[in-house]
Amino acid sequence: MRNRPVLVDTDPGIDDAVALLVLWRHRRIETKGILASYGNVPLSMTAANARRLKKLFGWEIPVWEGASAPIFGKAGKTADYIHGEDGLAGLGKILTPAPDTPIPEGEDGIEAAYRRICELGTVDYISLGPLTNLAMLTRRHPDAWEHIGRVVSMGGGIDIGNVTGNAEFNIHCDAEAAAEVFANAPELWMAPLNITTQVALGIDEIRKLTEGGGELHTVFRRLLETNFKNCTEYGEPGSIMHDSVAVLLYIYPELFETMRCGIAVDCSKERYGKTSVTSVRQNVLLPTKANCRGLLDRIGECL
Ligand code: RIB
Ligand code: CA
Repeated sequence: MRNRPVLVDTDPGIDDAVALLVLWRHRRIETKGILASYGNVPLSMTAANARRLKKLFGWEIPVWEGASAPIFGKAGKTADYIHGEDGLAGLGKILTPAPDTPIPEGEDGIEAAYRRICELGTVDYISLGPLTNLAMLTRRHPDAWEHIGRVVSMGGGIDIGNVTGNAEFNIHCDAEAAAEVFANAPELWMAPLNITTQVALGIDEIRKLTEGGGELHTVFRRLLETNFKNCTEYGEPGSIMHDSVAVLLYIYPELFETMRCGIAVDCSKERYGKTSVTSVRQNVLLPTKANCRGLLDRIGECL
């Protein structure tokens, strides 16, 4: 599969941080920018966390600030009970962010991302958080869909949820935005909870993978041990690598069995954020099975 330049939309967040590490380690994937979103924690924190990770990696790419709330209404509850109050297991206090990425007066981060997409001609868009940024970008500039080859989204689940019985966090943040993106994206690869919840790092594996010392291992040991503790307190089998699954679906699709379908997003009060398979469209590639051990090994190689 020929990869296009990539823009990544993210709400770091501990599992986002691991996914960004995986992307950064895969130099053959040309990641050209990060667009931060509200989600796990408020936008001011996710943007600063993205710049902290940029500085930690020494990653020379722009970080733009996207939406601070869903298209309609206010941002709902965060996921700080999983990621820590600052979204990075309290490391915000010691990790210095890279400087802001300057953007022209009167332009916002979403506009800056659109401008970059047009400069690049065509991109793949990896979304690791709510789909508000992409919905807003394509509402403002519908021609953006001509420049987006493939959307990859960690989000949703079939008959499973982690906010309500059938709504996953990223979709539940802004179901209206998700409904628009799932309907309009020419090609969308989805990493659903059904798969991501099977990809969990255990505490022994975390400690083994981060035993090497050095700043990066010290940081990721703290992130992953915190995520392990918080996830297991909520009944998960370990530190769930939700967002890395989306990035690995993009890089190693051969590790997945998939089906083609459409995905409908329910925006009703009763079933807000529920995602279901529909035959109305065939624009979604939905993984039905994954080589979970293989996925964990790919993540381990990046630590
Ligand atoms: O439901 C899991 C998703 O919500 C992940 O993207 C995690 O980072 C949170 O944003
Ligand atoms: Ca995320």
